This record gives sequence, structure tokens and C-alpha cells, in this order.
Amino acid sequence: MTRATITGWGKCVPPVVLSNFDLEQVMDTSDEWIHTRSGIKERRISHVETSDMAAVAAQHAIAAAGLDPLDIDMLFVATCTPDRLIPSCAAMVQAKIGAHNAGTLDMNAACTGFIYGLSAATGLIAAGVAKKVVVVGAEKLTAFLNLDERTTGVLFGDGAGAVVIEATDDPDEGILAMELGSDGRMTELLTVTHTGTEYPNDALLYEERTIYMQGREIFRNAVVKMGESAANVLEAAGLNLDDVDLLIPHQANVRIIDATAKRMKLNPEQVYVNIASYGNTSAATIPIALTEAMEEERISAGDVIVFVAFGGGLTWGGTAVRWGSRTTPIAHSDAALPPTDRTGLELLAARPRI
Ligand code: UT7
Repeated sequence: MTRATITGWGKCVPPVVLSNFDLEQVMDTSDEWIHTRSGIKERRISHVETSDMAAVAAQHAIAAAGLDPLDIDMLFVATCTPDRLIPSCAAMVQAKIGAHNAGTLDMNAACTGFIYGLSAATGLIAAGVAKKVVVVGAEKLTAFLNLDERTTGVLFGDGAGAVVIEATDDPDEGILAMELGSDGRMTELLTVTHTGTEYPNDALLYEERTIYMQGREIFRNAVVKMGESAANVLEAAGLNLDDVDLLIPHQANVRIIDATAKRMKLNPEQVYVNIASYGNTSAATIPIALTEAMEEERISAGDVIVFVAFGGGLTWGGTAVRWGSRTTPIAHSDAALPPTDRTGLELLAARPRI
């Protein structure tokens, strides 16, 4: 079976910061509460659409892999906040980056979407269907924040991250094991209603078209499932907890990350955390965190990396990876979002009543 390996990585975090102090001005909350309960200090709010951020992240990942967009034969975008229902966000990204030889598909597994995309890419490569696959995680969750709902209103942010996955003959590197899980019976614990075919059936209540979450239940399930997924992929790869060089978990709450790391008996330096800067960017958290871990030289050749995530569905999953020999980008892209003069609070106020 052909093995798949990560050869490129990139991110796009929109430039406008929305701090906890900004939120204090429009919500009944405080920087102290948000930071203590979630680890978040600020998040980014996008002045462009999800596909714009995804396209920039994808171009950085493709350059890092030393490829041209025309080399890509499959493009997945993991997102629960696409620009439109039709076409897919992936098709819009394809046009924006000129990846005209690729198939395109969106994946919605909420915060676990990137793990699902990585698994699908690995499967296509193993089956010989694709050779060079881009997986993007991209979200514009600030579009669905309800400022009257302080439990969710403070948690989410916008951004995108991407990787390139390629076939490799090297038996010592690449994606070693994957796990995907879901329990649709827990749909109502984390949901945005009245956004799909439910839309025309009711009065268009803005409050019903925003993120609803039973935080404590989600928290409890996340710690259990992320810990189990990490253990399962390590076992499937013939590794144990001592072999883990870096855990890159979904960034939903620093207390969930700490509890997962504790279950796995990992030291803080074995866990990547950047939630303070970005909040929860759903499917984008892991590829953004991976890119920043590479930029900060937290990953060395041959390291064992574990990704774990948990989110709406409920969904969860994990991936065990042995990093290859290259830890620096082959080339750099100058792709960037257009500038904006607007502040975080201005962008928040200007959101359409979707
Ligand atoms: O990406 C995957 C999906 N998401 C997650 O994994 C998130 C999982 N859940 C969580 O991260 C946490 O449950 C939250 C951060 C959402 C909430 O933290 P918590 O420690 O579970 O707080 P709580 O919901 O139990 O609320 C505690 C108190 C309540 O006040 P009372 O009833 O004790 O007086 C809330 O009303 O904190 C209050 N509260 C706030 N206060 C200030 C809730 N939100 C806020 C807020 N600012 N933003």
C-alpha cells in the first residue's frame, strides 16, 4: 500500500484582531472570565470570505511543498462555514489558486473536519487514485456568533490552514494510523440551526441561526474521545505514549487540552497550544497549529506527531504521523489577503444578519 506524507504546510490568519477587551464592550463578559475558563486572549475576525482565507493558506502549503497548483490532483476543504451551499468552497478555492487539474470536495465534520480530510487524502493516495492532495481547514465562524449568547460568543474565531499530502516510497515516514468517529445522536449538543433546508420553514430568527452549544457536555466528551483517539492511533501504529514528540490537539479550550495531555501523561513541551491568539477556529485549528509549530522549529525530522480533534456531530478523530526528513519549506508564496482599515468591533457590527 502506498504511504502518504505531509510535504507542505501553510496558514492564513486574517489581520484584524478581536480581543477579549473588545468583547467586553458588546457582551456581558470579561477578559478575566474568558481567559481563565478557555485560555483565549484574542481571536481574528475576517473581512473576507472563507474561500479567500483557504486559498491563501493553500498557496503557502503548495509553495512549501515545492509544487505548482497545476500539480494538485485533489483539493479538500474541511469547513462548516463555506461561502455558499453551491458550489463547494473547494471549487471556489480551486479557481482562486489555479489548481485546474484537481478534483474538489468540501467536508463538514465541524471541528474534526481536518482530520477527516487528512484521512480521505491518505486513502486516495493509498488506493492510487491521487498523488498530490491539498487538505485545507478554513472557517469564518464569527459570521455565526450571537453577541447575546456569551458562552459561545467568546470562543470562536476565523482562519485557515492547509497541508499538501503526497505519496512516498519511504517506509519510515508519513501518516501511520488514523481513527474517525461520530455519534449523530448527540447532534443537538453543538449546532447551528435554520441554515440548511430548515431555513425556509420558520420565521428567520437571527438568534436561531447562531452557534448553540451545551458546553459542559461537549467538554466532558471531548476530553474522553480525544484521549481515546490518541491512544488508538498510537496502538495502531505500534507506538506508545513515550514515542510522542508533539501532540497537536484541536484548540477549543486550554482546559480540554490540559486534561487530554494529563490523561496521556505528556509534559507541556510535548503539546502545541496557540488558542490564546486565535480562539477556536474549528477545522482550521490543527493546520494553523501545525504550521506555527513548523515555523517555531518545534518539529524535527523523524518526530512522531499526533493530531486529535473533537467537534459537532458529535465527531472525533486522530492521526499519528512520523515526520519526514525535511522541516523547512522548499519555497515561499507571497499570497496574502487584501488589507483592511476596519477594526474588530467594526467588522463585528457590520456582519450581515444571516
Ligand atoms: O470545538 C469543539 C466544541 N467546543 C468545545 O469543545 C467547548 C467545550 N466547552 C467549554 O469550553 C466550556 O464548557 C465553556 C468555555 C463553553 C464554558 O466554561 P464552563 O466552565 O463550563 O462554564 P459554565 O458554562 O459552567 O458557566 C459558568 C458561569 C455561568 O454563570 P453562573 O450560572 O455560574 O452564575 C455562566 O453564566 O459562567 C457564566 N458565563 C460567563 N461569564 C462571563 C458563561 N459564559 C460567560 C462569559 N463571560 N463569556
